[in-house]
Amino acid sequence: MNTVQVETPGGAYPIHIAPGRLDALAQSIPDDATAIAIVTNTTVAALYGDRAQAALARTGKPVLRIELPDGEAHKDWQTLNLIFDGLLSNRLDRKAVLVALGGGVIGDMCGFAASSYMRGVRFLQVPTTLLAQVDSSVGGKTAINHPLGKNMIGAFYQPIAVDIDTDVLGTLPAREISAGLAEVVKYGLIIDRDFLVWCENNISALRALEPEAIAYAIRRSCELKALVVSQDERESGLRAILNLGHTFGHAIESGLGYGQWLHGEAVGCGMVQAAELSVLVLGLPQAEAQRVRALVEAIGCPVQPPDLGLQRWLDLMQVDKKTEGGQLRFVLLSELGKACVQSAPQPALRQVLDKAAAAAPA
Ligand code: NAD
Ligand code: GLY
Repeated sequence: MNTVQVETPGGAYPIHIAPGRLDALAQSIPDDATAIAIVTNTTVAALYGDRAQAALARTGKPVLRIELPDGEAHKDWQTLNLIFDGLLSNRLDRKAVLVALGGGVIGDMCGFAASSYMRGVRFLQVPTTLLAQVDSSVGGKTAINHPLGKNMIGAFYQPIAVDIDTDVLGTLPAREISAGLAEVVKYGLIIDRDFLVWCENNISALRALEPEAIAYAIRRSCELKALVVSQDERESGLRAILNLGHTFGHAIESGLGYGQWLHGEAVGCGMVQAAELSVLVLGLPQAEAQRVRALVEAIGCPVQPPDLGLQRWLDLMQVDKKTEGGQLRFVLLSELGKACVQSAPQPALRQVLDKAAAAAPA
């Protein structure tokens, strides 16, 4: 088993990474927990609900299961309330522990519920998608979407542990693996050029979920995320680099309607656009931007953004947590492996959006 430690002012906790970890979840439940509530969705419950429940029952504590509808379109107030309904109707107290069993949607919603149920109860992250294992389960960002903007309502709230079972990736559709790989290569692009080169050289192994390659990619991603969030838990500076591609990507997700493109797909495509913008704003060599495009394509994510119309792109991108005083800010690359956050001149941004629109299929 690999263990990566996360240290933040809001909490320090281990990330356990191992095949079969699902059967050892009881080890992460504190002795003083009064009850356990598994928060999951219908898809993941059918695959892993019974196993997780049996593993947690070994604590000798009551284990409740709350099943939500599946999908990004349900990452909203109405569905969040189903968690509170389940917790309250079963009279769970402040020493209950919530367990987020699922992808990033479940992790974000369960974490947000944990942050506010009785003003805060403990929760465990058990991520079951690649994207959630390499990114969303680590670092304590929790949220739901608003029709006007993605992840706009939420809290920073750290889990007590992250338990990653690499075996569960075997049931993920290929499209979800590609979406998760977008977040993996993101770390290389923003902070670790050697890891980027390793990703470029191991694409087939990663897409095929070869155990050694995928275990290394998950561990390295968790290490890099832990490194960033331990320096800036609440995104007052450095942490924003984790949002490479997100200003464009979130616009795609909310512009097309949540769930049309997968989050990782939108981020992948957004990273290609961010690299194009970096060429114009920071002088990133065009060949390096081309390398980003080739990599995103090779992992199986789209590189051609949808044609939302220039004004709609600009309006959608305004609803971004990096926007300050109405000024859009982007994560840009001065070189591959080195990111910064800054505003972009309007003509450069328009040039990138116009170029994408011109290339869009009629
Ligand atoms: P998701 O949670 O919707 O999961 C994708 C699909 O895979 C779902 O249909 C799910 O039911 C299914 N699934 C989950 N595990 C499975 C398994 N093992 N086998 C088969 N199917 C499985 O999507 P996601 O990509 O995991 O997460 C995306 C969400 O994460 C977005 O809402 C995004 O905003 C959020 N996110 C949050 C952070 C953060 O720091 N909190 C970071 C990145 C992304
Ligand atoms: N996924 C971005 C962050 O955790 O900050």
